[in-house]
Amino acid sequence: MRAYDLILKKRMGGELTEQEIQFLISGYVSGAVADYQMAAWAMAVWFRGMSAREVAWLTQAMVASGDTVDLSAIDGIKVDKHSTGGVGDTTTLVLAPLVAAAGVPFAKMSGRGLGHTGGTLDKLESFPGFQVELEPKQFIDNVNRYKLAVVGQSARLAPADGKLYGLRDVTATVDSLPLIASSVMSKKLAAGADALVLDVKVGNGAFMQSLDDAFALAGMMVEIGEKLGRRTIALITAMDRPLGQAVGNALEVKEAIAVLSGAGPEDLKELCLELGSRMLVAAGAGTEAAEARFWLQELLASGAALAKFRELISVQGGDAGLIDNPQNLPRAPLKREVRARQKGWVSELDTRGIGAAALGLGAGRVRKDEPIDLAVGIEVLAKPGQQVELGQVLAVLHGRDERTLAEAQTQVQDCYTIGPERITPLPLICGEVSIDGEKRF
Ligand code: URA
Ligand code: CA
Repeated sequence: MRAYDLILKKRMGGELTEQEIQFLISGYVSGAVADYQMAAWAMAVWFRGMSAREVAWLTQAMVASGDTVDLSAIDGIKVDKHSTGGVGDTTTLVLAPLVAAAGVPFAKMSGRGLGHTGGTLDKLESFPGFQVELEPKQFIDNVNRYKLAVVGQSARLAPADGKLYGLRDVTATVDSLPLIASSVMSKKLAAGADALVLDVKVGNGAFMQSLDDAFALAGMMVEIGEKLGRRTIALITAMDRPLGQAVGNALEVKEAIAVLSGAGPEDLKELCLELGSRMLVAAGAGTEAAEARFWLQELLASGAALAKFRELISVQGGDAGLIDNPQNLPRAPLKREVRARQKGWVSELDTRGIGAAALGLGAGRVRKDEPIDLAVGIEVLAKPGQQVELGQVLAVLHGRDERTLAEAQTQVQDCYTIGPERITPLPLICGEVSIDGEKRF
């Protein structure tokens, strides 16, 4: 077998066999297939696409390139959740204790933020002392005992994906549905959960800009998961505006605490209930999503979910007292407001721009090893579809110094388009995809 022939076959629109895909991926990891050959193949895939079988084989080959996590020592059906990435997406911080409080084991492997999206690990480090590195045995023991543990994702999971993603990033081949679907699913499958609930974001803050693309990506990921023996459900959710109000690490932790305390932004709470109820259904803990949702609401109202969060933080060495005194979480020294320059309706919000402005304030990192400032960020108060008065506060910036604040102020101001007509933003939950098919709401 030669890489040349496989590149040519794909370039001509052919379907590769399982053996051919394994040859490419294992060769790429070992160095027998060169970067330039893999890049040419990825570009051929970008133009020609892949069959459902090819995507499943590619996913499997990437899973096989590294370690897989064995969660069989954890009792019950383990459900994982994945978001394709958005701005101010605080759901994991709420969902993890919420679902665990319902008795569903949540063995969460999380990443750090890169670019304009934040990482759960960074957010949790807002609690001084919180340990994101647990020995595998400790991780499993904690999940069995408390139903919940969060650890950093090992680079040994699906290393072929790590290498290929880096290559795609510099060869204009990231935005290919089969390559994204296999990339996400290889990491999730290697992480060992029995079932998966996917949150596929759509809109100007997401990878997928159109509903059709988002449904196609969700369909592909559901098909891969089900083909490889994992119950997989996807919700398509709005990212034409940030989720909740807070964008930035400690600000998002405060927002999560608010939701767990029965307050907080309605959209964040709603999304957590919808994703959480699917997780309960997938875990076999509730018969129907509507019933599961009712139960989760009770766990929020009774304080059980908040108590579970307190437990998670203290079991992993963090200062759980901050949950009752969130004003003592990392706090930026300076604040600045962004005000409406005219009255009207917010007709568009450049969500990616909000993420970029938060990055400029220091809330994210451009390179993998950079430190981040947990305290800084943006509170997004006005969203698309909302009516605003002249001079109304649209957003509040939390910053470290005058220079970055001034820059972010201009950036955030420019993210808002205010017009004379009322627009209807995307519904928070745009649809659902499962093995039974696609529903659009
Ligand atoms: N996230 C991933 O993990 N992989 C992709 O290809 C795109 C987004
Ligand atoms: Ca948020």
